Amino acid sequence: MAHDKVRITDLPLMKASGTPITMLTAYDYPFAKIFDQAGIDILLIGDSLGMVVQGADSTLPVTLADVMYHLRMVVRARRRALVVADLPFLSYQVSPEQALRSAGRLIKEGAEAVKLEGGTTMAATIRRLVDVDIPVMGHIGLTPQSIHRMGGHRVQGRQPGRAAGCRERLLEDATAVEEAGAFSIVLEGMPADLAAEITNKLTIPTIGIGAGPSCDGQVLVMHDMLGLTQDSVPRFVKPYASLWQEVAAATSSYIREVRERTFPAPQHCYSSKKA
Ligand code: KIV
Repeated sequence: MAHDKVRITDLPLMKASGTPITMLTAYDYPFAKIFDQAGIDILLIGDSLGMVVQGADSTLPVTLADVMYHLRMVVRARRRALVVADLPFLSYQVSPEQALRSAGRLIKEGAEAVKLEGGTTMAATIRRLVDVDIPVMGHIGLTPQSIHRMGGHRVQGRQPGRAAGCRERLLEDATAVEEAGAFSIVLEGMPADLAAEITNKLTIPTIGIGAGPSCDGQVLVMHDMLGLTQDSVPRFVKPYASLWQEVAAATSSYIREVRERTFPAPQHCYSSKKA
């Protein structure tokens, strides 16, 4: 399986065999190529790009054109991984028809599936896309496009009840997403025991972020995973590198050497042809 193209149809087999699914966000050619060559299963062009690439303080300003721009770069780099693209805020909530048009544009650019946020309220929309063979990945729990309702990026499902963001409601949301035909679902920012309960209940794979170890797979935002953010990262993130510091140190060295005139050195220079 390691070097074969990952397809939607592989994911249920991975869940059934207990093979953890690996997913990372990617927004450009070089990082997508590194992740793909390393063997990542899924590359997500997340609307998190608004925060980690564009410097916005939420995902709300991201447009469909923004996602398409980054999707093109990732698709050029991808050989093996499954490519999933996010539907950004207000590109699908207006109506199932709007969702279909937006999702169709992402598929035409090379995405193999789309991801959208929401549970029971999005079931009809998911069904509309699935009915025309556009694979959908759901996303419930801490859904960043609901930042204003949640009052910030807050862990969901800690309270019992059926109000939005409460435990029983998230269980209903997960079931609604599966019944609507999604092929997998992201569980973000929820207690590990709730994510475990959802994972056991659903037949589709769950992919967790801040949702504990029982999910069928894990996803992280690449900037968090690589230590490419200057801000402190949330508790659920494990930085596997310190790229911010490495890039800062490299930049300081470059500035110093240019100012000292030690760069460029002779080996970096061209000589003229002798007449
Ligand atoms: O936009 C994103 O990067 C995401 C992941 C955090 C799952 O939705």
